[in-house]
Amino acid sequence: MANIYIGGAWPYANGSLHLGRLSSLLPGDVLARYFRAKGEKVLYVSGSDCHGTPVAVQAEKEGISPSDYAGRYHDELLECFNKLGFSYDLYTRTDTANHHQVVKELFLKLLDNEYLYRKTIQQSYCESDERFLPDRYVEGTCPVCGQRARGDQCDYCSTLLDPSDLSERTCKLCGSTPVERPTEHYYIALTRLQSELEEYAVHAQGWRENAKQLTKRYLEEGLQDRAATRDLSWGVDVPVSGFEDKKIYVWIEAVSGYLSASKQWAEETGGNWEQFWLEGEDSIVSYYVHGKDNVPFHTLIWPAILLGTGGLHLPDHIISCEYMTLEGKKFSTSRNWAVWVPNLLSRYDPDTIRYFLIANGPEKRDTDFSWREFIHSHNGELLGAYGNLVNRTLAFIVKSFDGEVPEGELSEEWRITIEKLYLKSGVLIEDGKLKDALEYIFAGVRKANKYFDEQKPWIQIKDQREACGHTLYNCVQIIANLSQLLHPFIPFSCEKVRRFLNLAQPSWKMINVPVQQSISDLELLFERIDVSRIEEETNLLNKQLLDSN
Ligand code: MF3
Ligand code: ZN
Repeated sequence: MANIYIGGAWPYANGSLHLGRLSSLLPGDVLARYFRAKGEKVLYVSGSDCHGTPVAVQAEKEGISPSDYAGRYHDELLECFNKLGFSYDLYTRTDTANHHQVVKELFLKLLDNEYLYRKTIQQSYCESDERFLPDRYVEGTCPVCGQRARGDQCDYCSTLLDPSDLSERTCKLCGSTPVERPTEHYYIALTRLQSELEEYAVHAQGWRENAKQLTKRYLEEGLQDRAATRDLSWGVDVPVSGFEDKKIYVWIEAVSGYLSASKQWAEETGGNWEQFWLEGEDSIVSYYVHGKDNVPFHTLIWPAILLGTGGLHLPDHIISCEYMTLEGKKFSTSRNWAVWVPNLLSRYDPDTIRYFLIANGPEKRDTDFSWREFIHSHNGELLGAYGNLVNRTLAFIVKSFDGEVPEGELSEEWRITIEKLYLKSGVLIEDGKLKDALEYIFAGVRKANKYFDEQKPWIQIKDQREACGHTLYNCVQIIANLSQLLHPFIPFSCEKVRRFLNLAQPSWKMINVPVQQSISDLELLFERIDVSRIEEETNLLNKQLLDSN
């Protein structure tokens, strides 16, 4: 038995979720569902990242409180996750009293252990907006690659930056040139943790390649101490006198949500958060699931906080996704080149979305969402292979065997195939290779269709009724087991299959459907999507882009 902790990235509560973001979060739910089926103890948490200047600025514009503003998107995010079947044990938000308290405790511990020190720095200040500018609100030319970059990080070459590294600086809010003002801040001494973090990163196993490479690069360049507090109006207070008008830096604070959410979950359910966190509980395995832009915060900053406070379990698996593009171009929320999840969910099944995002997930390299691929993957694979297998088998039984599973015996070949499906796809999932796992299971689906075609039950039924029953019996066993194997990926349709066959909650071991089991409430697993939708959707997408410019 292991205690599996899964931390899903915390989406910003300042906008709707788009498909690219979703593709980096979904692996968390697949892992959670798989490990629960396997019988492990699982804690899967996340929440909305509610703090920061974008929320404060927008709320001010609309004349509402930042927490109301964030709440609007939090509710929307939560609804999307529910509709998509995300099985979080808790999805919370960072503007709760509990989160604030946990963050302050961590901060004070770091202070106690002398990983925080004070320093007066020059901070970008916009005189026309009358506010200090957060790093990402200063834009300028990246000193490494020469592209236009934000003051915290260059999206183009991934270099971590300080606004003062940029030349030709402008304020993102109003475009004027910011000035520098002195301000005192706490710094986290990453330099002091360099060798411990190196040690940790070298021994890490189960990190995706991009996490390994990026982290290695940061460590080789040498870590720099980073600001732990900021001149912000909306965030977690710095628990030290003299710092009343400052807040704890969002990055340090947001990652701490992994711990605060665990404590909140324990509080609310009577669960035991310690068994997922305390060093010395040797059976803990943790997974962190997010996009590539989040890598340093999960492989360096969060581990630094954990090492600097002591006693808590460090991240084991880093499931960091590459980017998903849209019709060959980068997603852009500002230009409205995006597929918005609430909108998508109003017209497509959650399983269609989930299947596409895993089968075409940006695991090792960037992948593309196009309407053509999306609709073909639904019609061709979900419906064409899986839906068809289920439907033609069960409909046959309804029609020719009074809706009761006929007499038969599972062939040795299928028994071995099914055993292998559990074993091999399980290993792949635990390794974060969800796409390979899904592909492997679908090879099983295709093999089953081939078996059906070769046995020809529609001919067998004429004068070999027993053999026909045997074929269908085998197909039913395959389908029942596929409904378990596929359940982490496409839970809604698998639940339907469980209903048809009256199966218990999914487990990660071979099951058997008894002879004479009656099939109830059979309906189609998936509806075909008319291919004319490809053009319709593509036109809408292009229109959306034009309208926003
Ligand atoms: N809201 C941030 C982002 O989406 C941070 C997410 S993960 C966190 O990029 F753990 F760091 F919060
Ligand atoms: Zn400005």
